[in-house]
Amino acid sequence: MTRLNGKTCVVTGAARGIGRAIAARFHAEGARVILTDLDEPAGAAAAAAIGCTFRALDVREESDWAHLARDVPALDVLVNNAGVTGLEAGAVAHDPEHATLADWRAVHRVNLDGTFLGCRYAIGAMKAAGRGAIVNVSSRSGMVGVPGAAAYAASKAAVRNHSKSVALYCAQQGWAIRCNSIHPGAILTPMWEPMLGDGPARAERMRALVADTPLRRFGEAEEVAAVAVLLASDEATYLTGAELTIDGGLLAGSAAAPG
Ligand SMILES: NC(=O)c1ccc[n+]([C@@H]2O[C@H](COP(=O)([O-])OP(=O)(O)OC[C@H]3O[C@@H](n4cnc5c(N)ncnc54)[C@H](O)[C@@H]3O)[C@@H](O)[C@H]2O)c1
Repeated sequence: MTRLNGKTCVVTGAARGIGRAIAARFHAEGARVILTDLDEPAGAAAAAAIGCTFRALDVREESDWAHLARDVPALDVLVNNAGVTGLEAGAVAHDPEHATLADWRAVHRVNLDGTFLGCRYAIGAMKAAGRGAIVNVSSRSGMVGVPGAAAYAASKAAVRNHSKSVALYCAQQGWAIRCNSIHPGAILTPMWEPMLGDGPARAERMRALVADTPLRRFGEAEEVAAVAVLLASDEATYLTGAELTIDGGLLAGSAAAPG
């Protein structure tokens, strides 16, 4: 597997879940992977297991990105994967009526500000070569409203749109720096744990969560990683400003459609 041979790739939020799967797959495809995360012990353990490099990076912090730019001034691929729902610590009001401004902003700081800072770094680190790939992990929730996770949905919609601005800006400059977004549906990662819980009700909750998904199952992080490999590779040199859904068919239809 050599689809990313020799490419220097940074993946954010890669200590676990989708980011970890992307880092592992990129490594297997021959890339030099720098796995980054806020969670240093988990990030270091994941990097050791994969056989790649770990670097602490909080995507919200401009200074962390500046340090990365100093140490990794030339880059082929950035995956802006780090993201939060705002529900990690348990039930918090995230509907449009009751969400606090602080909770709204906290989600946007990671998902949107973090992606903006990542794209800005990547452009600077790719423009000398005039080529590269930025992959932004948005969500299916960036394409539809989510009443109970309004900040998450709004921030992911903004990521989708910012990806297109970045794609067009780079094209305007005459650079082959591509930027695309991925929109996963329900992918079974630790992000779901607070919602799934333990005990006998877990299986029933899982079934209910994917009842409307045409493929009737959660996706796997490795299935998202496969899409990231395509977007990062030189097989996708005419793909920019695009959005790829990977959701078991969820967005292909509508509950209002006739059967
Ligand atoms: N799992 C899904 O069903 C699903 C669906 C659609 C989109 N996504 C998106 O995919 C991405 C990865 O999701 P996941 O399910 O693997 O989540 P996860 O919660 O399992 O992992 C997220 C990782 O991001 C890290 N992180 C959080 N805040 C950070 C910060 N400020 N700086 C750096 N790292 C930070 C966490 O430490 C963790 O390792 C997220 O952007 C998420 O919104 C996930």
